[in-house]
Amino acid sequence: MFKNIILATIFTSMIHAAPERGEVIYKQMCFTCHGPNLEGGIGPSLKDDYWQHGSSPQAILDTIKNGVHGTEMIGYKDVYSPHDVTALRDFILSQQAGFRDLVRSYYSKNRFLGKRLTPALFNSTESSQQTPIPENTLWIDSSFEGGVRMQAKLYVKTPGDYQFKLKSHGRLAIYLDGEEVYYFDPAAAKDKNISKTLNLKPGTYSIDLLHESKKRHGWRVSGSLVNQQAGVSFRVHGSSLAGSIPKEIHAGPNAKVIRKWIRNMPPRSLLCLLPNKVIVSFNPENGTVTHAWHGAHVNQTPSLPDRSASPSEIKGSPIDDSTKSLATPKTFDFISYKTQGDKVVIHGRVDGEIRAITIAPQGSQSFSITSK
Ligand code: HEC
Repeated sequence: MFKNIILATIFTSMIHAAPERGEVIYKQMCFTCHGPNLEGGIGPSLKDDYWQHGSSPQAILDTIKNGVHGTEMIGYKDVYSPHDVTALRDFILSQQAGFRDLVRSYYSKNRFLGKRLTPALFNSTESSQQTPIPENTLWIDSSFEGGVRMQAKLYVKTPGDYQFKLKSHGRLAIYLDGEEVYYFDPAAAKDKNISKTLNLKPGTYSIDLLHESKKRHGWRVSGSLVNQQAGVSFRVHGSSLAGSIPKEIHAGPNAKVIRKWIRNMPPRSLLCLLPNKVIVSFNPENGTVTHAWHGAHVNQTPSLPDRSASPSEIKGSPIDDSTKSLATPKTFDFISYKTQGDKVVIHGRVDGEIRAITIAPQGSQSFSITSK
């Protein structure tokens, strides 16, 4: 029994790695794609509200270990020790701020009539629908009428005094780590409503937001959790990525290769972004150039299959002779690609023979393609 406790303690201290160690590795490896401040670039931001593969500590660890098949995000479990992978995860977690892992549940109407909204009351009845919301946007279907519960994790990075400043259509209660910190009832006397000042340390808290209202538009609760002194605020109703400013990728002094789903293009295309702002789309399935543009950049909104109003696209002027391919091979097996200064070199087996295909900038508006 005691032995188990000791073992568990050792194990726990082992798996909670130092974020400082994670930061060192992050700055050697991950920053090239995720940005020096985790703001995103070729890969997505690692500190915004949207987590395509889950924001829980376990989900982030799994993504780092196993990667995302078919993308530039390779798995790092064979590159770094388990301790280092955990340190990376803990560094990423230490940079989080705001609401994460939001789950919205609906409850049929009249369940809560005349009763104070508490987690226990909601626990005592079944929800009719539960939806994890990856964008953490507290959107309520406009035709819905009844009780809504939003359960989320709150990540705090900046310590200090926080307070909920909210507008609500209908009753609203908020619990932080199980304690009532906010209560609003439009029918109650003003001094009966509560909005406590919360002194928060860096860390993770659980939020339980309980709401009840009639049919209306989608934003029934809006406003923020505010730390006025530090100038920090988190929008409780979240921020949808649809319509947000897209991330853009521009040419730099060296060639870049981006693999990104772009409408009307083969899904695994290598987008070769050359320093002269020419982008060449190479299809590794058959070894041909499918499109090319000059004066171009990639307008990279995050890939949200059904949510994003505007998917990633290439902005630029099409180059007419983009069929400037090598003679179309009968068979092509893609092996690998790499960048070499201002060029992209693609290795493949062209009609049975291993070849290096080089795509290089030419003048200000074109490119050359050669095979050796
Ligand atoms: C060559 C570019 C590249 C490098 C280097 C890279 N990543 Fe990624 N990463 C990506 C891309 C692209 C995605 C998005 C994959 C997809 O389409 O789902 C991603 C996704 C992720 C995600 C999931 C994000 C989400 O929204 O769920 C995490 C976590 C992550 N990377 C962590 C890391 C860490 C830690 C490192 C360093 C060890 C790293 N990445 C290095 C390109 C990269």
